[in-house]
Amino acid sequence: MMAKAKFDQIKGFVFDLDGVITDTSVYHSIAWHQLADKLGVTWTKTLEDGLKGISRMDSLEMILKAGNKENDYTQEEKVALATEKNDNYVNEIMKMTPANILPGIKPFLDELRSNGYLISLASASKNGPTVLDKLALTDYFPEIVDPATLSKGKPDPEIYVKGAELLNLKPEECIGVEDAAAGVQAINAANETSIGIGDPTILSEADINFKETAEMTLDAIKQAL
Ligand code: BG6
Ligand code: MG
Repeated sequence: MMAKAKFDQIKGFVFDLDGVITDTSVYHSIAWHQLADKLGVTWTKTLEDGLKGISRMDSLEMILKAGNKENDYTQEEKVALATEKNDNYVNEIMKMTPANILPGIKPFLDELRSNGYLISLASASKNGPTVLDKLALTDYFPEIVDPATLSKGKPDPEIYVKGAELLNLKPEECIGVEDAAAGVQAINAANETSIGIGDPTILSEADINFKETAEMTLDAIKQAL
């Protein structure tokens, strides 16, 4: 795919959190898997991948739909189920330390900072600030999109548009970093340059792909653009 921007145009980075900065995507999956088992919904790799980047309530709807159970619960019951999943998830993230930062991320954030790039967070997670705090990365993210203010979740571009706005940058001046297909679609729809981290077959729509976070450096991005 032709990259949208040249390297010299880029002034800021808008980051996803879960699965990019830290491997909380595993904790999200474990907690949803537990709930799916309880609801009698078969857990598959396709369902697991499809849930990445999706908001809490939309994730629950996706799971119920996968089991043809979308009409089996009242709104109140759905909120209780999502709360139960979140309680399990929060239990796990409370045990996190800076050792849970994915390889290469801290040096990359330092590299961005020392080269004057602006940084914001575009995570669908309402637990984002807590996770950053546990990782001791709060200082790197002065601007965080509040997912409670969004009218639509990923793959809608809204969260990445806001991530650029918080930095006072145009979308074309930003690179978005994602591990989820829905997130890459959101970045592309926002007209930002997309980096997909992980399986290139799942993230085939990304402008740039890195299999591992450790591969992401300014030099590697410059080469790719
Ligand atoms: C995204 C995760 O970052 O946040 C999803 O990829 C998760 O798995 C979503 O469902 C919402 O997170 P939370 O913490 O608000 O339930
Ligand atoms: Mg993610």
